[in-house]
Amino acid sequence: MVSEKFLCKNGKELKIATIGPKEAEQFLKFMKQVTGETHFMSRYEDEVNLSDKSIEAERKRQKILFEDERQTMISIFDEDRIIGNIAIRTQGKSRKTDHRCAMGLGILKEYHGYGLGTLLMERGLDFAKEAGYQCVELGVLADNVAARSLYKKMGFEESGCLPGAFHLDDGRWIDEISMYKKI
Ligand SMILES: CC(C)(COP(=O)(O)OP(=O)(O)OC[C@H]1O[C@@H](n2cnc3c(N)ncnc32)[C@H](O)[C@@H]1OP(=O)(O)O)[C@@H](O)C(=O)NCCC(=O)NCCS
Repeated sequence: MVSEKFLCKNGKELKIATIGPKEAEQFLKFMKQVTGETHFMSRYEDEVNLSDKSIEAERKRQKILFEDERQTMISIFDEDRIIGNIAIRTQGKSRKTDHRCAMGLGILKEYHGYGLGTLLMERGLDFAKEAGYQCVELGVLADNVAARSLYKKMGFEESGCLPGAFHLDDGRWIDEISMYKKI
């Protein structure tokens, strides 16, 4: 379980912590903002719903993750607001694939470039090692220069490309690059 305060390079005191069902609404608000700021997330902003029903569904999803010792969500908070998050999820539940997990992360635009992506990846990789995984996988849009550079810096290698994996509303087709890291 992660929970620590730290000083961000922008001079603010932030907190990095494991989240659970109590933070469901904060997490959805974060997702709504981050999906509206960039096309690099897998959903569009209008696909993130803040209705009571959606918050309740998110609470249930978060509870399952929170109670699973091999899956987690770690967020960075500025006071009560989630401004960044990394998710570690099991990729396969059979014995043949239970050494694999997947990672996904995002940070609000105003907090980019302060080392928070690196911090979230470090904590995510620590969790993955402790949970007994041996391979971490992720997918990234081919035009996401910052994320591809961050993942390379963290030791990830490219393993393939799915042409046209994402079809944007403006008509563009964007490839997905698969990356992995052995841990
Ligand atoms: C990708 C993202 C997580 C990076 O987070 P960040 O906190 O800005 O990253 P950091 O400050 O820790 O930078 C780490 C490395 O990322 C790379 N990087 C970050 N911003 C970059 C940019 N604008 N251009 C190129 N490389 C960049 C660099 O390699 C950098 O290492 P360096 O500081 O030693 O040069 C962030 O831009 C983000 O959340 N973007 C929107 C959502 C998204 O793309 N999520 C990933 C989906 S796969």
